Amino acid sequence: MHLSEAQRAVLEGDSGAAAAKAMEILVALGDVFDAPELLPVSSVQVAGVSYSNLGDEGLAYLEELAVDGRAVVPATLNPAGMDLRSPERMGLEESFVRLQRRVIRAYGRLGIAAACTCTPYMAGNMPAPGDTLAWSESSAVTYANSVLGARTNREGGPSALASALTGYTPAYGLHLDLARHPRIRFRVDAHPGGARDWGLLGMLVGQASEGQVPLLEVAGARPDLESLKALCAALPTYGGSPLFHLVGVTPEASRYPAPREVEIIDEALLEGAREQTAEPAPAGAPDLVCLGCPHATLAEVRAAAEQLRGHRVAVDTWICTSRPVKALADELGLTETIESSGALLLCDTCFVVAPLKGRYRYLVTDSAKGRYYASGHGAMDVTLLDASDCLQVAILGRLP
Ligand code: F3S
Repeated sequence: MHLSEAQRAVLEGDSGAAAAKAMEILVALGDVFDAPELLPVSSVQVAGVSYSNLGDEGLAYLEELAVDGRAVVPATLNPAGMDLRSPERMGLEESFVRLQRRVIRAYGRLGIAAACTCTPYMAGNMPAPGDTLAWSESSAVTYANSVLGARTNREGGPSALASALTGYTPAYGLHLDLARHPRIRFRVDAHPGGARDWGLLGMLVGQASEGQVPLLEVAGARPDLESLKALCAALPTYGGSPLFHLVGVTPEASRYPAPREVEIIDEALLEGAREQTAEPAPAGAPDLVCLGCPHATLAEVRAAAEQLRGHRVAVDTWICTSRPVKALADELGLTETIESSGALLLCDTCFVVAPLKGRYRYLVTDSAKGRYYASGHGAMDVTLLDASDCLQVAILGRLP
């Protein structure tokens, strides 16, 4: 890979040991993918923040980099394993809280903002169309590529961090026009109703497209922010590409030639997915209800507050969101309404990256992505309902 003189100097240690290590990682990655050069990035989003994923080794690596490493472009963090301001509400072990704080301090020394959200585009990290990024959280990567028209590969935590410390990413994959062409085309003869349905559509497309960039034609589709967020979360989770084109909605949908053959997703297929994922678990009542995967928008928080007003929840109920949305919810009195019901409005974290394994056995959520991870790594039974039905379960303490 060709390096400029300035890039070579970073590799040789002129900007310190951490930047040299970061440049080494990017050069190795570029060599693997035959990248001809490095591209400057305008922002970075770093996953690999929860201590439960990093462990002692990851923490030691960050602390070593933080000796002389500093981010040279705007960079934000993905969710951590706890709400940084009130971890005690999550019932976590004191040792975990201490180690998670060390992780956040190390990132802070590296100059990476503890936004701790998977919706950085709602927390001050909003790319423009065509921007080159190094983002790592799959739903955020898919939103940036597909909805915003920016360009990023799905980075691993270490490569995103390396981009933050150097300001570059290798020119391969979704940075190149060729990889952004749709390779599989779907006509959706169904009517996805809200965020849960768009998540299910993402699941069906992800499963059927096997990593190829899909072109989606959904007649009359006007998905809102919440629906697009759910689609972006589910599609790559279920095996799809972190870029899709939605005709009439996303900025690059008409830029490339459409594949000739068309696969159909009809109402029966969508209804089958609804029924299959809404099945109650074989035994027992849910012990956890979670909304906010990806992090809830203000509209989602408001809807939850309206439904919970005057009720008490009968099971642990988490609504996860970003700090800026929580600040607005505080001002509007929504946080108080939600928390008067016994539910928690949590920031900086989510039920997938928090260390919950073994603590809960049956989750109800509206997130197709959350369902995948909770039933896999989290080893929980999961029922997927729309947000309003999830909150009804929280109030009743059982499925209706
Ligand atoms: Fe975000 Fe956690 Fe879901 S990081 S997309 S809320 S799994």
